[in-house]
Amino acid sequence: NRHLCSMEDLSTVDIMEILHQAQQFSRGENWEPERKAFAANLFFEASTRTKCSFEMAERKLGLDVIPFDADQSSIQKGETLYDTAKTLEAIGVDCLVIRHGKDHFYEELLENVHIPIINGGDGCRQHPTQCLLDLYTIWQEFGKFEGIKVTIAGDIRHSRVARSNAAALKKLGAEVTFSGPKEWFEEDYFKAGRLVEIDEAVKETDVMMLLRIQHERHGSPASTDAARYHKEFGLTIDREKKMKEESIILHPAPVNRGVEIDTSLVECERSRIFKQMENGVYIRMAVLKRALEETKRRSGEYV
Ligand code: CP
Repeated sequence: NRHLCSMEDLSTVDIMEILHQAQQFSRGENWEPERKAFAANLFFEASTRTKCSFEMAERKLGLDVIPFDADQSSIQKGETLYDTAKTLEAIGVDCLVIRHGKDHFYEELLENVHIPIINGGDGCRQHPTQCLLDLYTIWQEFGKFEGIKVTIAGDIRHSRVARSNAAALKKLGAEVTFSGPKEWFEEDYFKAGRLVEIDEAVKETDVMMLLRIQHERHGSPASTDAARYHKEFGLTIDREKKMKEESIILHPAPVNRGVEIDTSLVECERSRIFKQMENGVYIRMAVLKRALEETKRRSGEYV
């Protein structure tokens, strides 16, 4: 599959191939397409990490990046996402990275857009490259997934990171549990694991994956009391002290310092938060290489 829209598009073999390729890139391996190739990053929601690290990955692979600013584009004149994608394909773009607030935005594109589409995050549903970089960071640390205990903590209901990770981690043999306010837990989606109190989770988990409260998806102005949330559900200094010796802290970021995590823990010894961002570039290089090679394999023209 040349597209990467959901972690469900990937088998465990595909996932491990991407992680190994990312590792090769981290060790200095070079790969460039055999002819000049172009990428465009279409972000209809705010982003720092995903957008900039895709652009970094594209440039490292020698791709030309066609600038696209949704606010200055013909989307403002009513052009649809489908017509935007078809336009970029028609002018010669080889690969599209798209972030959009609409769940499953990519479904309307898959039949008639023939260049690879990589999902940079759709609504509350999927964020596959974030998931892959999280998996890579866990694998780098523990060398395996089987039996690794991962707690996904926070605003689970609104999190595409939680959805992508819960299913992928379970498929790879990790033990997933969740933590956070009950009203943000959706049993239907999270058959992967049970909901536990944060005080219990910190003592047992190997990976504490914290999530940001996604106020922008709550449909009402911010109503969560930050200090109260931190005390009841956050990773406080006291809770971090109870974590297992070799355990690590992940967070997809942006971080709400002092809410889901004490600000002094963001860069503590256990934290891999900035390592995740570094790893994201290698993962995105691996994902782009895979997409372009698949296009070449299918069409035979990409030589
Ligand atoms: N983790 C993540 O997706 O960050 P951005 O929203 O900054 O891209």
